[in-house]
This record gives sequence, structure tokens and C-alpha cells, in this order.
Amino acid sequence: SASSDEKDLVIIGGGVAGYVAAIKAGQEGLNVACIEKRGVLGGTCLNVGCIPSKSLLNNSHLYHQILHDTKNRGIEVGDVKLNLANLMKAKESSVSGLTKGIEFLFKKNGVEYIKGEGSFVNEHEIKVALNDGGETSVKGKNILIATGSEATPFPGLEIDEKRVITSTGALSLEKIPESMLVIGGGIIGLEMASVWSRLGTKVTVVEFLGQIGGPGMDTEVSKTIQKLLKKQGLEFKLNTKVLSGDASGEKVQLNVDSVKGGKEETLDAETVLVAIGRRPYTAGLGLENIGLETDERGRVIIDSEYRTKHPHIRSVGDVTFGPMLAHKAEEEAVAAIEHIKKGHGHVNYAAIPSVMYTHPEVAWVGQSEQDLKNQNIPYRVGTFPFSANSRAKTNLDTDGLVKMLADPETDRLLGVHIVGPNAGEMIAEGTLALEYGASSEDIARTCHAHPTLAEAFKEAAMATHGKAIHF
Ligand code: FAD
Ligand code: NAI
Repeated sequence: SASSDEKDLVIIGGGVAGYVAAIKAGQEGLNVACIEKRGVLGGTCLNVGCIPSKSLLNNSHLYHQILHDTKNRGIEVGDVKLNLANLMKAKESSVSGLTKGIEFLFKKNGVEYIKGEGSFVNEHEIKVALNDGGETSVKGKNILIATGSEATPFPGLEIDEKRVITSTGALSLEKIPESMLVIGGGIIGLEMASVWSRLGTKVTVVEFLGQIGGPGMDTEVSKTIQKLLKKQGLEFKLNTKVLSGDASGEKVQLNVDSVKGGKEETLDAETVLVAIGRRPYTAGLGLENIGLETDERGRVIIDSEYRTKHPHIRSVGDVTFGPMLAHKAEEEAVAAIEHIKKGHGHVNYAAIPSVMYTHPEVAWVGQSEQDLKNQNIPYRVGTFPFSANSRAKTNLDTDGLVKMLADPETDRLLGVHIVGPNAGEMIAEGTLALEYGASSEDIARTCHAHPTLAEAFKEAAMATHGKAIHF
């Protein structure tokens, strides 16, 4: 049994943070075990996050496009029918293909996969309540806490994942609701609102702030995407707070008011999606048994080398500080293993891209205009609209723009903000430029293939010097 030997590393959680750390540790020759209680590897991202949401976004977009955007392309289609069960099956097959792939990679890299819930007995020993019944225990010279996050509940509204749902329910509804209210106009709210609205649901998004998109989205970009989503049929109530909810009647009711007050009203819908953020998940982990405290938001407290106050216990991913993104978790996982194995490792938190997979997509990296204003950092702006890009015109997909922010003295790139087709792929170039400390002129003088959407990226860089060619 596992109880006798001590591993070089025990990882609690098999999400992106945990499974990447496990594979990397295996590659580095560490004797490693990964404990996961879900019954499948891949965590939130693969099972109920990034992957299933992108499957539904992609296929609902295709459906919506076939319904509304083919005639003008010279394509005439007959009866178009949606088969929701098969849409969900396509999603499930993408998910299971990927989660099985991780199991294979575990085997390939000699990672021991323990299926069960891990809990600290002491600073080196973890007991595991096995999914198949019974218990085992495993000891680690090093331990990595990678237990991820969960949806933040809305007080007073009980989640049943059918009528009152989180993203998890929104990814597997069995019928298309006639109406949906979304609490929170952040990334989850807008991606899920897009899916169901395309399939025919009347969606209203209630957002506390004066803009949509959640933290970090540039205001100009946020306004642009809001207009486009509105054209697609989404309704928005901004500067509005949800006071309470009631799911006892035939419809779910929300009592809302303007943030300033005095505009109280009751909204109702068949389904309510709670999308007000996620919170770190440490329930049942037994942190109290090793004297580890979390901060006021429930995050495991770590230093710049991912160490808790017990230096051999580290933590990465959603359960600790920073943006709750899969690629951020992955970078941290690799860096943490490098710290353990080599004594050094690094993540550049200034160059982590964000993508919202609506249509068009929104993507950004680095600082927004408001960020720079708030810090009194001078900047130069260059924007280029996709309506002036030849490929976007060819594709009849011209909504959106690329916006680049650069230092007026040194011309160093400070931020890139894109709303437009394929923005999520295009942001990789901005991230690389930022990582390499490129100037906007470096980008402007780099040859980009024609006709591509990426030319809009180059021309936005040219525009920071007032020298775009096509606009
Ligand atoms: P998780 O993925 O949450 O994994 C933690 C794992 O630990 C879980 O599987 C859990 O079962 C397990 N666990 C917890 N406690 C224990 C225990 N005591 N014992 C054993 N196992 C335990 N990010 C992106 O970058 N791009 C996207 O497009 C994107 N889309 C998303 C869409 C949705 C709907 C949601 C909800 C999230 C999305 N995210 C996206 C965020 C992304 O899913 C997370 O940032 C990522 O999953 C974090 O990885 P993690 O390993 O830290 O945590
Ligand atoms: P979020 O933090 O992005 O957005 C939550 C929104 O809800 C905010 O705009 C907030 O102002 C609003 N809000 C909070 N309380 C409210 C209330 N009472 N009434 C009205 N509005 C309220 O969180 P979200 O969308 O739940 O996503 C959680 C995490 O998952 C994010 O950190 C995100 O990074 C990650 N994620 C990433 C995706 C991607 O990369 N494409 C996709 C989905 C999720």
C-alpha cells in the first residue's frame, strides 16, 4: 500500500494546476502521486469549465450562423433543427477524449493516480478517503495544494442546477429554457448567456457595475462587445444589484434595485444563472490540522515561490492568489515543480492573456487604458477596426477592433485589447510581444501575411504612430 513509502511529491487535486504539476514532476524524475476525488482528471477546466463551455459556444455559434448568416453568403439551407441531446454528446466526447488523455500522460510519466478525497493528518501525511470505499494514507517530502475553486453562491437562492444554476448546470441543461436571468455580467455570465441565447432563450444579464466583462476588461472594448451582444438579442441591466431571489414559485424571481437605490423591481425567468465569481475551494482538506490559514477571500496564503508557511507545502492555481485561469494555473504548476527540483522558477504575471469566447471574441493582455490612467502612466493609443481589414471583410465578419497601448517615450508595448473574430488566437502575438519587451514599432515593422486578421494587429501598432495604411 501507499502508506509505507514516502513520495517526493504528493499533489492534492487533479485539475489543470495539479495534473500539469504531476506530469512535470514525473518528467523531472520525481516520485509523485496525485489525489483527485472527482473520479476524473482535469478538474473544473476539462470537466465543467473551459472545455465543455467552448464546445457549446462553438456549436451554438455554428447553429446560430446557419440560421441567420448564410443567405448573404449565397448558401441556402433547408430545415435546420437543433438536437440538444446530440449537442451535449458532442461536448461530452470532447471532454472525455481530453480527460482520458491525461490519464494516459500520467501513466507515461509514472504518476501514481489516487482516486479519492485527500485530507491533511499532519504536515507530511495525507489520508485519502478512496472513491471505491476504504481509506489509505500517503506521505510526501513535498506537498502541493491544487484544490481549485467553486462557484460563489448567491445568499438565499439555493442552487439545484436545474432552475437555479451555476455554470455547471448551464453546461448541461436538458431543455432550452424560454427565459434566463443571469446574475453577474462577467466572463461566465456572458459566455453562457451567448450559448443559450443562440439556442433560443430570452436572456437578461443583471450586472452590478457600469460595464460588462468582469475585472480587467478595457472600457472601450467592453462597450463595443456590449453593443454587439445586444444586437444578438441579449438584454442588459447594468448598475443594478440583485437584492434577493425566490425560487418557490413557478418562475424564479429576482428582486433588483439600481445601485444608487430607488428603482426596485421584480424580474422573473424560467432559469436563473448565478455567475458572480468563484471562490477558492479548501473544504475537507484539513488545513486546520496543519495550522494553515487562508486569507479573507479563502485563498491559501503563499510566498513568491508558492510556499505556505510550511516551506515543503506549496499551492498553485485557483485556490491561491491571482486570476482564476487555466493557463495561469498551468504556468504556476510548472514553476512550482522547477522550484522544488531546481530551486528557481518564474511566472510573468504581467503577461497573462484573458479571453472571452463570445462572438466576436474579446481578448487582452497587459494594462487597460483605465489601469494606466489610474496609475498616471502616460500612454499612446493605436486602434484599427476590423471593418478596414481585408480578411474580416472577406469573411463578412467585420465587427470589432484592435487597440494597442504603448509608452509615448520608449514605445514599449503596455497592453493589447482586441474585440473581434479570432481575438483569442491573435492575443498570443500580443503576449509574446509583451514578454519580449517589444515596442509597437517592432510589431509594425514585422511582416504579417495577407490577407489575415493578424494584419489588423500590425496596423494597430502602426496606428500608435498615426501611420496605419488602410484606415
Ligand atoms: P480545478 O480545475 O478546480 O481543479 C481542482 C481539482 O481538485 C478538482 O478536480 C477537485 O475535485 C479536486 N479536489 C479538491 N479538493 C480535493 C481533495 N481534498 N482531495 C482530492 N481532490 C480534491 N479558464 C481559462 O483559462 N479559459 C477558459 O476558457 C475557462 N473557462 C471556464 C469556464 C467555466 C464555466 C468555468 C467554471 C471556469 C473556466 N475557466 C477558464 C477557469 C478554469 O477552469 C480554472 O482556472 C482552472 O480549472 C483552475 O485549475 P485548478 O487546477 O487550480 O482548479
Ligand atoms: P467574474 O468575476 O468574471 O464576474 C462576476 C461579475 O458578477 C462581475 O462583473 C461582478 O461585478 C458581478 N456581480 C457580483 N455580484 C453581483 C450581484 N450581487 N449582482 C449583480 N452582479 C454581481 O466571475 P465569473 O464570470 O463568475 O467567472 C469566474 C472565474 O472563472 C473568473 O475569474 C474567470 O477568470 C474564470 N473564467 C474564465 C473564462 C475564460 O477565460 N474564458 C470563462 C469562464 C470563467
